[in-house]
Amino acid sequence: MSPLLVTRTLPEDATDAALRADVQVGLTSTPKTLPPKWFYDARGSELFEKITELPEYYPTRAEREILAARAGEIAAASGARTLVELGSGSSEKTRYLLDALTALHTYVAVDVSESALVQAGEAIMAERPGLAVHALIADFTAPLTLPDTPGPRLVAFLGGTIGNLLPAERAAFLTAVRGLLSPGDALLLGTDLVKDEQVLVRAYDDAAGVTAEFNKNVLTVVNRELGADFDPDAFAHMAVWNTGNEWIEMRLRSRTAQTVKIPALGLAVEFAAGEDLRTEVSAKFRREGIGAELAAGGLELTHWWTDPEGRFALSLSTVR
Ligand code: AVJ
Repeated sequence: MSPLLVTRTLPEDATDAALRADVQVGLTSTPKTLPPKWFYDARGSELFEKITELPEYYPTRAEREILAARAGEIAAASGARTLVELGSGSSEKTRYLLDALTALHTYVAVDVSESALVQAGEAIMAERPGLAVHALIADFTAPLTLPDTPGPRLVAFLGGTIGNLLPAERAAFLTAVRGLLSPGDALLLGTDLVKDEQVLVRAYDDAAGVTAEFNKNVLTVVNRELGADFDPDAFAHMAVWNTGNEWIEMRLRSRTAQTVKIPALGLAVEFAAGEDLRTEVSAKFRREGIGAELAAGGLELTHWWTDPEGRFALSLSTVR
């Protein structure tokens, strides 16, 4: 079997520099924020996998249902020889596409989590000898250079992760994805849909407390990487529906007035009692809205599939 082709687009110290910059900016801003990408160290990736199995967290199951029912249609519409998956994580749902794409030559998995990438990449290579597999350790919000592989390309961005981007970031992201595509290529996009507030909040605040642990894991990452002294128990996990923006916000609410030291930045961060640190935005979509965003990025939504309950959508878009 040929080896897994691992490419690191950023040297390890650049990841470290990006974390420092994000923590410096985010924790000195009002309100305080941290970007969600820092959840995903090995422990965070493992906790996210657990989240996907929770009864309250429906998006993964809903998307899997769509893929199971529609992979054939998706494959026929794209005819891809290269599948590029952004934010591939465990690549668990990718199997449906890999099985349906009969002309597939190369699979390129792109993720910030090296541990998840290598594990998934090796598993796929073992199952599919003959398929070229690239693992690209990269931040999909940064400019991306794809390996030179045969077209047409299908770029898949599943899980609803586009919802982690703020509207301006989404616009930049879709324009960048458009730049990766040639005529005949396509984007397969997973979007969680606007629904009952209770259902949404429960999906991000589960009874077993797994999402709370996932949320607090970002503090553990900052402690380990930057020598900070966050006490995760000094914060409460919050999931709040923002009606105006139609997104869920995950926050960590300081239980008391406290000062957190971050030696690597020479920073002391003051939290008031009850002050929130926003750790994630997870936007929910409607067909019309995401269609307009795709169009603004130079893409044309050509197919729209939902699960029978209408909770989640997969859309296919082509270059306009
Ligand atoms: C992996 C970004 C799609 O926003 O639903 C799960 C991450 N955060 N529970 C999401 C997440 C809290 C998830 N995405």
